[in-house]
Amino acid sequence: MISKTVKCPECKTHITVQGNPGEIAFLSCPNCNTKGKFTFQKEKAELKAISDRNIIEVKKLTKMFNGFKALDNVSFNVKNGEILGFVGPNGAGKTTTIKLLTNLLTPTSGQAYINNINVNKNPTKALLSVGSLIEVPGVYDYLTPHEMLTYFGKIHKMNKNEINQKIKEVLKIVKLSDWEHKKIGSFSTGMQRRLAIAKAILHNPDILILDEPVIGLDPKGIKDVRGMLKQFKSKGVTIFLSSHLLNEVRNTCDRIIFLDGGKVVTQGTIEEIMNRIKIDTIEVEFLNQLSEVDIKKIESIPEINSFEKENGFFKIKFDGKPETSNKILTKLTEQGLKVVSFSIDKADLESFYVSIMNDEKGVM
Ligand SMILES: Nc1ncnc2c1ncn2[C@@H]1O[C@H](COP(=O)(O)OP(=O)(O)OP(=O)(O)O)[C@@H](O)[C@H]1O
Ligand SMILES: [Mg+2]
Repeated sequence: MISKTVKCPECKTHITVQGNPGEIAFLSCPNCNTKGKFTFQKEKAELKAISDRNIIEVKKLTKMFNGFKALDNVSFNVKNGEILGFVGPNGAGKTTTIKLLTNLLTPTSGQAYINNINVNKNPTKALLSVGSLIEVPGVYDYLTPHEMLTYFGKIHKMNKNEINQKIKEVLKIVKLSDWEHKKIGSFSTGMQRRLAIAKAILHNPDILILDEPVIGLDPKGIKDVRGMLKQFKSKGVTIFLSSHLLNEVRNTCDRIIFLDGGKVVTQGTIEEIMNRIKIDTIEVEFLNQLSEVDIKKIESIPEINSFEKENGFFKIKFDGKPETSNKILTKLTEQGLKVVSFSIDKADLESFYVSIMNDEKGVM
């Protein structure tokens, strides 16, 4: 089952639709009653057919730094065409894993395979179709994007014409076309991040390994990167990305692995993880400032346990059941209140994140 949020073409209310690939959902806007339909793309089902193959396999990987175990017997797989989120707090071992996957570090024990090739024993072949983003701050300050990308194009044995053409293409994707010949040292953090993504996709890789791709980006930048990742996925690219932002990963990935203290603490599909989160708060944004009469209308809805205003949003407490949340949305709109957005409270996600890191240490 896929869940999508679409905007009503008339009043721009966000409407959540659920369905399976290829299905058509018939919609009626809860706000203005405009009717429409939404077709779920088939692509996901087609990808599923080929998705059983493991593109990345990590087997009992351990990494010691001077007697300190940064990574402890970590095993996981990334399947063909999926976006896998590798989530954990600072120091969990995310970057260490990514460096082992890209041969920037050698494992103390265990193995990492990409397309069945041992990364440590045969790095050139294993990493041929991999694009990676690993933070190395300041290294390219004296180069321009054109010079830096030309250098990487040559490493990937691309010819001059191909390099020049691809540079234009990838800079356009990351919205840096106007900066092709300016020194990287003058770029903002977000621009450097987007350039790093351009570098990762320069040689049309089938696999992307990205360490915190949205760190340092503003909300617009995060949205752009999210869009880019979804586009790559739709072309069949397999993506492994790390993040400490659970909410970000929830929006982008098919599956999540939680890492803490160098160990995998739990893993599952987004659906499985979301089913384990007790969400009893909804954030609602209304089109207009609410009057006292409007507030009374909200108070009259029996499914709402309590509500308060915080940073322009109304935080509504309820019993946490999806059907109740649906009833609340229906009743709000029936009362004539113009709902602009209606979503789960991020704090619920974050408290799940904290509880999982505390409760499940070392269970998987
Ligand atoms: N080269 C190194 N030498 C010694 N210790 C290291 C080295 N690299 C990483 N570590 C240690 O290994 C642990 C894991 O670090 P790592 O950078 O992989 O974490 P991370 O999950 O990427 O964290 P962050 O979210 O802060 O980026 C940390 O305790 C770190 O101090
Ligand atoms: Mg890191």
